Amino acid sequence: MAAIPPDIFALEDYARHAAAILPAPVRAYVDGAGADGLTAAANAEAWRRIRLESRVLADLRGGGTELDLFGLALEHPFLLAPVAWHGLAHPEAEHATALGAAATGGLMVVSTQAGLRLEEIAARAQGPLWFQLYMQPERADTLHLLRRAEAAGYRALVVTVDAPVTGLRNMEARAGFALPDGLRAVNLEGYAPAAVRTAPGRAGVFLGLMDAAPRWDDIRWLRAQTRLPLLLKGILSGHDADLAVQAGVDGVIVSNHGGRALDTLPATADALPVVAARIAGRIPVLADGGIRRGTDALKALALGADAVLIGRPQIHALAVGGAAGVAHMLSILRAELEVAMALTGRRRLSDIDRSVLWA
Ligand code: FNR
Ligand code: LAC
Repeated sequence: MAAIPPDIFALEDYARHAAAILPAPVRAYVDGAGADGLTAAANAEAWRRIRLESRVLADLRGGGTELDLFGLALEHPFLLAPVAWHGLAHPEAEHATALGAAATGGLMVVSTQAGLRLEEIAARAQGPLWFQLYMQPERADTLHLLRRAEAAGYRALVVTVDAPVTGLRNMEARAGFALPDGLRAVNLEGYAPAAVRTAPGRAGVFLGLMDAAPRWDDIRWLRAQTRLPLLLKGILSGHDADLAVQAGVDGVIVSNHGGRALDTLPATADALPVVAARIAGRIPVLADGGIRRGTDALKALALGADAVLIGRPQIHALAVGGAAGVAHMLSILRAELEVAMALTGRRRLSDIDRSVLWA
């Protein structure tokens, strides 16, 4: 196993090392974003711009970062976001990432677009997994995928709803990114693709893609098919947050897909309080996008999140150190959060509220 370089202290160190390892087109895919990357940059900036209020001399005995999420006991609130194609970063691919998450008492969300079959990943996993599901054009195929995830022991479903069409990936295109031989959407083999027509001067969006795209009634249908907790990923508006609760889902993830879908959407730090206010505690709210420090997570929890998800850094850590790298990356975040909690006088995650923020 690759030794972790001794000069890694924070997530940005993993990013720097990964940049030296990964080929330029892969870097453009992983670190790139939609169009001009404005939302991706805003995600990180927005957390950093928020200031914290310190509290001293508080009684912090017996504190910690543990939480319960849909009946799962987790050691810390840093979930691994669903990210496609871990095989781009490491030969052990999703197996290694899952091991890294489990080693820290954490949770990985496995992407529909994993390069390994969801059953294989679950069979070797040492810790709990959630499955990120892309609704398929045919309900029978969605149901098949759902039943496979249930049978393999996944503990919740994350339905990603913000990417019925892939964002404008100019950075990937310029770098000439293409999936290497051997990586393909093995979990979707045998399922019907969207029937997209072509016409001169037209994209496929309104020539079939949107006919196949999921709608709210599909979410209500899916909700009725399973007893697994069901979360919608990619909620940014208060209005959609209400519709999500009405559709009977168990949680929402405030996300702009790491700025990879529609560029110039707001930073998640700006959308999170809007969504959390509308949800008003009815169901858990999670958030992702640009979280790179324990303080970023503390701020997300202060703004109404119950947990956060980490996207790109898991690939950086996987490329640099395999399973050990992923575990180390998560340990760094947890330790940073502990420091931030201690210095803001918060004993448990449930003690973190708006009053942790300056003004
Ligand atoms: C993603 N994301 C993503 N989301 C999803 O629901 N299914 C997927 O297959 C993928 N694939 C994917 C690939 C890569 C390379 C990246 C970087 C991201 C989005 C991901 O779950 C998450 O929302 C963002 O990555 C969070 O932002 P940060 O932490 O990367 O800034
Ligand atoms: C992405 C897709 C796979 O963000 O969700 O690249």
